[in-house]
Amino acid sequence: MVLVFWTSIRKQNVITIILILCVSYHGNVESSIYWEEANNVTYCTLPRDKALPDPDWGPGNCTPKPEDYLKCVYYWTNASATTARIRTHYLNRTDAAISDYVIYVGRPLIYCIGLVFNILSICVFSQKELRQVATCQFMIAIAVFDILTILNGFFYWIEYELLVPVMTAHVALCKISVFTVYCGPEMSAITLTLMSAERLLRNMNTAAHERWFSIKRTSLYIVAIVLAMVLLNTYIFVSDIFFKECCKNVCWNIYHDGTDMLELREKNCREDMGNNCGIMGALAFYSVYRWVALSIYWILPFVGLPVINGWLLYEIWKERRRRNNQECRPIIPMPDLPVDGSEYKDRDKEITKMLILVTLSYWVMTTGFNFMQAGIIDVYHACTPHELVRNSTIYTIFMLLFYLNHASNFFLYCISAKPYRDEVKCMFARGYRAIAMLLRTIVTKIQSSFYNAENDKRLNSVRVSYHKSRCNSIDSL
Ligand SMILES: *[C@@H]1O[C@H](CO)[C@@H](O)[C@H](O)[C@H]1NC(C)=O
Ligand SMILES: *[C@@H]1O[C@H](CO)[C@@H](O)[C@H](O)[C@H]1NC(C)=O
Repeated sequence: MVLVFWTSIRKQNVITIILILCVSYHGNVESSIYWEEANNVTYCTLPRDKALPDPDWGPGNCTPKPEDYLKCVYYWTNASATTARIRTHYLNRTDAAISDYVIYVGRPLIYCIGLVFNILSICVFSQKELRQVATCQFMIAIAVFDILTILNGFFYWIEYELLVPVMTAHVALCKISVFTVYCGPEMSAITLTLMSAERLLRNMNTAAHERWFSIKRTSLYIVAIVLAMVLLNTYIFVSDIFFKECCKNVCWNIYHDGTDMLELREKNCREDMGNNCGIMGALAFYSVYRWVALSIYWILPFVGLPVINGWLLYEIWKERRRRNNQECRPIIPMPDLPVDGSEYKDRDKEITKMLILVTLSYWVMTTGFNFMQAGIIDVYHACTPHELVRNSTIYTIFMLLFYLNHASNFFLYCISAKPYRDEVKCMFARGYRAIAMLLRTIVTKIQSSFYNAENDKRLNSVRVSYHKSRCNSIDSL
């Protein structure tokens, strides 16, 4: 068991392990520093750094109210750690530029890769035979939720990296984008955990699995998850997250803004009764919601995935020891699985690898982000320009990892398990066959008078028959 774990780690995940160590070490240092600071409330005792210019107060002759002026300066300076403004307005330094360029380029890169592979994942799993399998239904749902998250990421990129107002341009755009970015990852996390549970049940008790994860019931679970998360987040539509403060429009969301702005907003609302504060305070909501979000998006999978996957690994290990060859209960239900012992062992190893990979990558990719959104790692309070750059670097790393988590499910599930990998190959082979067929028709029709038409025809038919034999098991269903 340990050996399997170690060899699989050593071979493929050296980078992952290094990343874990780096991030956890970094996280420890950061959180211990900020723990002290959070108890003292006053963040900086030093006077404001004169190297930093005042914020650019935007169009018109707007300046904040005199009593708010310093708060606004602090707020926008601190918030620049999460936008391209740190580079364009505050700091003319290479380290600020690097962390900023990484996220500026990294975001669209990860989004595009994620979009392509999530769409591919939907194509693979929504094939007629696979649609009937519960795991595949879950995978389709996860891909859809991830696409939502990623599409939403483009809004963030345009707003905060290109500095073109989209989310802050209109209240509807703000609320819709915040709503999707809260819902999508949470739905994805719950579905991922449920899918692990489904795989475990299939391995342990096939009859119960049939009952609990029939096609109808699985769709029902997915609909229930969607409805629950939509309900949980409808608060966004009635709350006061879109407002004008410190001369700028703010679309307040946990992915991007510190609480100081909400505090200022509440204060001004209470003082000025003419101001429309919305139905309920966004600050009060945030203080509750951040823990709810942390539970759903982090604690549930962080505890659930290793427990369920560990249990499944234990079952596989027990089964292998029993060496019961008459009864094969495939973990991933693919037709015509070879019952041959060595193949069986290979398959176990593949699945073990996949489960470890999935669990570890979830830990690595979401932990930092979750600590950031819950305020455990504070990136919105810097005392010096140096800390501002450090905050920006932390934000860049954790944000990109967060999106990478939603872009990489296809790799983790499809590419690391052989049955899925074969399925992807077959899909491409089928696509290739269709194109080859089409080409052959065109070639024979249009170029029939050409002397090389016969050669093409022969060549194509050889390739086609090769792919056909490989996909026979799936075609015969
Ligand atoms: C960040 O905010 C804190 C208080 O909220 C302030 O003391 C500090 O000076 C701000 N940082 C910068 C770089 O303005
Ligand atoms: C940034 O630094 C470069 C070279 O040190 C200088 O030419 C440029 O004017 C600076 N830009 C700003 C906005 O300070």
